[in-house]
Amino acid sequence: MEHHLLCASSSLLLLFLFSSIPVTSQFTFGSSKQAHNYANVSCIENERQALLLFKHGLIDESNRLSSWIGEACCSWEGVGCHKITGSVLKLDLRNMVPLYSDEDYHCTNCLGGQLTPSLVNLTDLQYLDLSVNNFSTFQVPAFLGLLKNLRYLNLSNAGFDGEIPYHLGNLSHLRYLDLRWNWLRTKDLGWVAGLSSLEGLVLSNVNLTAARDGLQSINMLPSLTMLDLDSCGLFIHPHLSHVNFTSLAFLDLSGNNFSNYTAPPWLHNLTGLHDFRLGHNNLSDPIHGLFDQMTSLVHLDLSSNRFDASMLKSLCNASSLTYLDLSFNNVQGSIPSEIGQLINLTYLDLSSNDLQGSIPSEIGQLSKLTILLLHFNKLNGTIPTDLWQLTKLQDFDVGDNSLAGVLSEDHFAKLGELKSLDLTGNSLALNVSSSWVPPFQLHEIWMGSIIVGPRFPAWLRTQKEVWVLDMRNASISDAIPSWFRVLCHNITSLDLSSNSLTGNPLEFKQLKHRPSRYRYRDISLSSNKLDGSLKSFPLDISVLDLSHNFLTGHIPQLEVGQTSVVHTLLLNDNRFIGTIPEGLCKLENLSELDLSNNLLSGRVPLCLGNLQFLMGLNLANNNLSGQIPSSLGNLWRLLSLHLNGNKFVGKLPASMQHLRNLTALDIGDNGLTDIIPAWIGEREENLAHNNLSGFIPHCFNNISAMVSGLHGHGRVDSQERLEDIKGGRELEYYLSSLRFVESLSLSANNLVGEIPDEIMELVQLQFLNLSQNYLTGKIPDKIGNLKRIETLDLSMNALFGAIPESLSDLYSLNSLNLSHNKLSGPIPSGNQLQTLTDPSIYEGNSGLCGKPLPNSCWEHKLPTKNGPIDDDEGHSESDWSWFYAGIGPGFAVGLLGVLGILLFKKSWRYAYFKFVESACDKIWVKTTRLRRKFR
Ligand SMILES: *[C@@H]1O[C@H](CO)[C@@H](O)[C@H](O)[C@H]1NC(C)=O
Ligand SMILES: *[C@@H]1O[C@H](CO)[C@@H](O)[C@H](O)[C@H]1NC(C)=O
Ligand SMILES: *[C@@H]1O[C@H](CO)[C@@H](O)[C@H](O)[C@H]1NC(C)=O
Ligand SMILES: *[C@@H]1O[C@H](CO)[C@@H](O)[C@H](O)[C@H]1NC(C)=O
Ligand SMILES: *[C@@H]1O[C@H](CO)[C@@H](O)[C@H](O)[C@H]1NC(C)=O
Ligand SMILES: *[C@@H]1O[C@H](CO)[C@@H](O)[C@H](O)[C@H]1NC(C)=O
Repeated sequence: MEHHLLCASSSLLLLFLFSSIPVTSQFTFGSSKQAHNYANVSCIENERQALLLFKHGLIDESNRLSSWIGEACCSWEGVGCHKITGSVLKLDLRNMVPLYSDEDYHCTNCLGGQLTPSLVNLTDLQYLDLSVNNFSTFQVPAFLGLLKNLRYLNLSNAGFDGEIPYHLGNLSHLRYLDLRWNWLRTKDLGWVAGLSSLEGLVLSNVNLTAARDGLQSINMLPSLTMLDLDSCGLFIHPHLSHVNFTSLAFLDLSGNNFSNYTAPPWLHNLTGLHDFRLGHNNLSDPIHGLFDQMTSLVHLDLSSNRFDASMLKSLCNASSLTYLDLSFNNVQGSIPSEIGQLINLTYLDLSSNDLQGSIPSEIGQLSKLTILLLHFNKLNGTIPTDLWQLTKLQDFDVGDNSLAGVLSEDHFAKLGELKSLDLTGNSLALNVSSSWVPPFQLHEIWMGSIIVGPRFPAWLRTQKEVWVLDMRNASISDAIPSWFRVLCHNITSLDLSSNSLTGNPLEFKQLKHRPSRYRYRDISLSSNKLDGSLKSFPLDISVLDLSHNFLTGHIPQLEVGQTSVVHTLLLNDNRFIGTIPEGLCKLENLSELDLSNNLLSGRVPLCLGNLQFLMGLNLANNNLSGQIPSSLGNLWRLLSLHLNGNKFVGKLPASMQHLRNLTALDIGDNGLTDIIPAWIGEREENLAHNNLSGFIPHCFNNISAMVSGLHGHGRVDSQERLEDIKGGRELEYYLSSLRFVESLSLSANNLVGEIPDEIMELVQLQFLNLSQNYLTGKIPDKIGNLKRIETLDLSMNALFGAIPESLSDLYSLNSLNLSHNKLSGPIPSGNQLQTLTDPSIYEGNSGLCGKPLPNSCWEHKLPTKNGPIDDDEGHSESDWSWFYAGIGPGFAVGLLGVLGILLFKKSWRYAYFKFVESACDKIWVKTTRLRRKFR
């Protein structure tokens, strides 16, 4: 991924280098004048041998060096010789195919292998370019330092690893050195000082963190005109006694370590800069007057710092600027009208600041503007008329502000060049006629949450080049027109969710020869009124969200031989019927499947267990039956699994304990019977209203570890929240702050044994419900640990012994139920317990006495230290097994239909896990709000 982006920036840089900017045209490398592929020049035999040896060390899978045969080495691919002497002056093996240009991220056309020292026999070599290849895991060879005549050395993007050999410092004739985008580092940049002829030095992404005095060494190079230290982590000295590199025209200091986050004063002396990049440095000082002297400055990047309004104000005098990026700073207040002085600006980015007020009409004077980015601010008012006169605009981006007004055809009449339009999230309405033919052909349309409807925008029909269309929540109440189905084929990202679209969903035909950029398409039509059935599966769509519509019929099957790239399939909250088709198992890239809240029936296909990339599976609230297939235990990547609200029977398969990554499991509201397996305590889950029986596992306190570990997985966005509606009150849990379980309910199961002490370690518990089980033993003394407990329900068990005194320490307790147990002895008095005066919370315990019960304690025998005095039962405390053994499963459930239960995620409407397949391997996770409801 990084490489991918960087390729773009490196080619920009190269463009810069070899462009017409006067200073760079000085780079005339000896070879470019003298070296050509003179086939008739005879090649020096020793050098030919050296080249052959060099070739021998290389791995050349794409056979780029197939011409390297025969005697005439001067005519070999990439070789340039002196036109008289025939000595090799130039070796240009740069790979012209960008890295990772193909879908498999393969290093296409790359050379690899080893660099053989025979190269040093090319004694006249002036130009060596090995860039954009893959010499991964190899160090930059030290022998390159022996190529004394080198003028140009480019090893960028070539996969080199390790320390840069200081021997390169011997190349005293070198004028250009490019080591960017490898995995290189150096502890000491001292060797650079030896490059006394150097004009261009490109070290971006070389790790210079350890090279504390690196800048002092670079300062020894008086001829430098270009210095690129982007993302080097270099310490930037506040003091340089004397700046030698005053000829600099290009300086990139983005992503380094500035002492005290302050721009050093010596920058003032670099008055010849054309292009100055300081992004991603957290700089905050305004650097007074810094740009006043830089009268040649045309390109300025100050993005991702902490500059404030005074910086923007001072820049309004830098009238030579054509490119200004001040995005991601702290610029507050309104945009100064003086911005109109920057008459040569073609690119202006003030996005992601804190700008307020209205957009000054003076921006309309910047007649050369092609790109205007003002999104993510707090700009209000209407868009000034003058802006619509910017005829060269290609990218007009004012999304996510507070702009208002109605935009009509007239506004856009002069914007024939426009390619990207972002109006999202403003109080804007688009009011154009159905016959409008816009003057532009847009590539990106961002009109989410503005008013585009109520009719489906007919003008879209004229837009043939769209690849991003976002009109979610755009007040469109209309049928999807048939012509849109055609247009839609080219769209890579389509979001029409949260409108009132009607009709059948789109037909998902695949284009025969789809360019790779269309390979991964995202389509969301969720929360509309689409009906009808889904005829076929999209084979070329990676994210398909049709949730919350009125779709019916069966879920379609893949046809034989078809494969699909879909990884997120959300069909939940529709009216799909029938069984879950086995064909779904062929969607082998699936990472998220949600079929919940439909009318699906039958068994869950075993083959779902083959979907090895699945991270979220939700089948909740259907009519699914049979056993939960044990094959689901194969889905080791699963983070959330929802099977609640079905008719599953039998046991929870033991294989599920292999689901080590599971953070949400909901199997409630089924007919499951099982011993609660011990591993379940490691998970968050809803076990309510199943016929689970067995001992409460002692590992319940591990839940806290698990929840706090959520961040360790890095999968859940910290802004997600869990909404919990409990007794009409809405609790919001912020996952980021969730350290411990706050609610635990296991009521109405067939639990036996004692209440484990470990539950008393869940000190954040506010809600604990263990009612309607066969729990025995005493209420743990440590119940007093649960200082935050508000609701405690232990009713309908077989608990015995005295109520611990520590219960009266629970100051938050406002709902208690201990009824129908075998408790005995005096009810503790004092503190919070005094406020709980309803006798029914203790009823059905024949041995209890004292307030609020009517019987006073002197009527009763005192309980012994070790147990109850329940002579009428005739059993000791260790012998309760007879009691529950004879009771059939379901007894408790049938008898008492109390509250549903919940532990964490009763209906987590959870998380979409979304892969963004760009060229990188990173997983991006986009999650919706996590919700749960108490019933
Ligand atoms: C350079 O050429 C000489 C003479 O042909 C040869 O002996 C020597 O091995 C070569 N050096 C390398 C490093 O290949
Ligand atoms: C850079 O190198 C230092 C050690 O010199 C190391 O601690 C640091 O993690 C490296 N930075 C990166 C981004 O690799
Ligand atoms: C560059 O400046 C340093 C002081 O920072 C000075 O010692 C050195 O002589 C200068 N080098 C050249 C080549 O001018
Ligand atoms: C910057 O330039 C001024 C005036 O030319 C000079 O006096 C000063 O020493 C220079 N500062 C540095 C750090 O080179
Ligand atoms: C950084 O700032 C602190 C306080 O403002 C100052 O004492 C210190 O000398 C500064 N460090 C450098 C390297 O300028
Ligand atoms: C704007 O650009 C033109 C043409 O490149 C140039 O002649 C002019 O000096 C520039 N204006 C300013 C204020 O730099």
